[in-house]
Amino acid sequence: MEDALIIRDLHVRVEGKPVLRGVDLTVRKGEIHALMGPNGSGKTTLAYVLMGHPAYTVERGEVLWKGQNVLELPPDERAHLGLFLAFQYPVAVPGVTVANFLRTALNERRKRLNPEDKGIPIPEFRKLLREKLAMLGLEESFATRYVNDGFSGGEKKRLEILQMAVLQPEMAILDETDSGLDIDGVRTVAEGINRIFGPHMGILLITHYQRILNYVKPHFVHVMYNGRIVASGGPELALELEEKGYEWLREQFAEQPTA
Ligand SMILES: Nc1ncnc2c1ncn2[C@@H]1O[C@H](COP(=O)(O)OP(=O)(O)OP(=O)(O)O)[C@@H](O)[C@H]1O
Ligand SMILES: [Mg+2]
Repeated sequence: MEDALIIRDLHVRVEGKPVLRGVDLTVRKGEIHALMGPNGSGKTTLAYVLMGHPAYTVERGEVLWKGQNVLELPPDERAHLGLFLAFQYPVAVPGVTVANFLRTALNERRKRLNPEDKGIPIPEFRKLLREKLAMLGLEESFATRYVNDGFSGGEKKRLEILQMAVLQPEMAILDETDSGLDIDGVRTVAEGINRIFGPHMGILLITHYQRILNYVKPHFVHVMYNGRIVASGGPELALELEEKGYEWLREQFAEQPTA
């Protein structure tokens, strides 16, 4: 199917240790899925595997997107296919401003879609960037700073969402978008996500807390435990987890065989 990211029976090892042990998940365009679960359950591993991090060995399974097995593609190819993984971008890029970084990324994407494309005209880009900065409650001076150089935790997270706003991906995987944000920051970022989101895109939002889900309403909530998705439901599942914690998972799933 064209309009979905399909993860099937994904088994992944890290440093020889099985971390994902049969993940099945489908995210369609027009859907927001929240992925929750205790520390060490494999959420970030899933995001890293989707982005093509070399430390993770896929043992079994497939990830389909636009008729291709994503796992066979190099990371930049994945981005060109409209997959967005916030942290696939460098941690700090000395000498490259936020504006230049975003313009380069946008032009690369445009060129992929149309080899004739000459890049976005600078005045048009400035206008676009100004709009997106305002949407995320960022000062215009943010665009002239060097990427992630001395950024606060909250600023890094806002940059991720700014990238998403500029690049307009079709499928976004966001890991702990709410971490490091203060109370207003969570709301601003969440509102940004809501404005970027639409029928043309799917979102997999990895989060620990129900808090961000007060603003970004997921269509589905999944719980990962010990490398598998062990429960799925609607937004009410996130509320239930907030109340019950994860202890019940340990009781219910501790004795499952590893195979
Ligand atoms: N590079 C690595 N080397 C060794 N072990 C790793 C590596 N990456 C992940 N792991 C292990 O894989 C397991 C899953 O980690 P992962 O980061 O995916 O969990 P998580 O669900 O994102 O947890 P958290 O909620 O704390 O972010 C952990 O036991 C972790 O120690
Ligand atoms: Mg994690």
